[in-house]
Amino acid sequence: MKDRQADLKDDLGDVPPEEFRKQLHQLADWIADYREKIGELRVAPNAKPGAIRAQLPAQPPEEGESFEKIIADIDRVIVPGMVHWGHPMFLGYFGWTTTAPGILGEIITAPLNVNAMTWRTSPAATELETLVIDWLRQWLHLPNDFDGVVYDTASVAIMHALAVAREEAVPSTRKLGLAGRADVPRLRVYASEQAHSSAEKAAIALGLGEENVQRVATDAAFRMDATALREMISRDLAAGMRPLAAIATVGTTSTASVDPVPEIAVICREHKMWLHIDGAYGGGLALLPECKSVMAGWSEADSLVINPHKMLFVPLDFSVLYVRDLERLRRVFTLVPEYLRGDTVAAEKNYMDYGVQLGRRFRALKAWMVFRTFGRAGIAARIRDHLRLATLLAEWVKADDRFELAAPVSMGVVCFRFIGTDENKIDAMNSEMVERINASGRAYLTQTKLNGRTVMRIGLGNILTTEQHLRNAWELIRATAGES
Ligand SMILES: Cc1ncc(COP(=O)(O)O)c(C=O)c1O
Repeated sequence: MKDRQADLKDDLGDVPPEEFRKQLHQLADWIADYREKIGELRVAPNAKPGAIRAQLPAQPPEEGESFEKIIADIDRVIVPGMVHWGHPMFLGYFGWTTTAPGILGEIITAPLNVNAMTWRTSPAATELETLVIDWLRQWLHLPNDFDGVVYDTASVAIMHALAVAREEAVPSTRKLGLAGRADVPRLRVYASEQAHSSAEKAAIALGLGEENVQRVATDAAFRMDATALREMISRDLAAGMRPLAAIATVGTTSTASVDPVPEIAVICREHKMWLHIDGAYGGGLALLPECKSVMAGWSEADSLVINPHKMLFVPLDFSVLYVRDLERLRRVFTLVPEYLRGDTVAAEKNYMDYGVQLGRRFRALKAWMVFRTFGRAGIAARIRDHLRLATLLAEWVKADDRFELAAPVSMGVVCFRFIGTDENKIDAMNSEMVERINASGRAYLTQTKLNGRTVMRIGLGNILTTEQHLRNAWELIRATAGES
């Protein structure tokens, strides 16, 4: 009986330290090998929906399994089933920011496993978050009265920004909500036709209503037309609605266009509207002294979001919302239940007060490690090279008369279009080319629509992508066009 009890005891608790150490060493090699050889993998799998699950047992394990067996399944099923966003030929979207210091930061964060909800539950996580937010504020040249909070994504950030705008436009919304109030007109939010759909998602979540996000026309370079914004606001005012906020994007998702922030800021001040700047992607350009112009009008904003996981080499997820006078955000969301009171030091920052989330990951560590490892100059030099590659690709596109540029190139994004075919088939052809290239596993691009036409889109920002990779991608595109 005694022996059996001892055996049972051996089965409890965590994996024994010596075994864990061995696994960690093995994993260190696994991660280093993955990073070193990532370029040899298919960028995207050839899998059909359901194919990955079909290779794994549908029943949960009754007994524990060995590390070796689990890792073998990762190699056999999971890795081949991935789109490798860190692959140098992954040229889609914006989130390609896996870097060695970022990975190390994520690894250290895992065993610490703190909940950065209040200063007391994790003083170091809280203070490092405050420090990293301030470092980034300095890099963005935002005035001192801006302070921020880290969320997972820009979508969550804009929802919080608009929640503050809503509270200030309609006092007591926090307490009473919007429903059933005769004193609340329809609230309108304005964003350009090219702005991210997170504006609508925020409006849905906040009870503002998706249709109250009004899309403003853009000019030939896909920037918000400020005159059209003015006209829309006048129309809405005449109809008894209340303009609540405008979203100006610095680096739109499809083309990286930059809205005329100073003009939009003037309109916002005139109508006492909240100005939110979506710099989720383009905000990172502020680290390059020669790109100072992107920051025009930022100091006029009420809020600004930047995703260092898009341009600044911090792994997903890390999004910072800056608010002018952060207390405005705290007033909307602070709520301390009795069971947390003991762990709440009022004099210290408790990040749970600045949003919906209570439990919060220690995200600041990886950003701090990335920022320290590369420094501003190192980050700027890498971004500068991505801008050079984007310009180079644009030149190649212009030099081939089967293609045309579909938008001006202002950041690391190039939109272009194959035009060497029957006019009626061009849209389908461009879409098919992207499908074919992605299915080949040799590169990954995306497609979007501009002025109603389908275009191919390449995003440059992966730390591993070199000029040779880009040349290979361009050759692949040309060859695919040749088969058309
Ligand atoms: C300009 C812009 N804003 C917001 C977002 C939303 O970002 P997130 O995925 O962090 O919510 C994106 C996503 O790509 C974006 O491109």
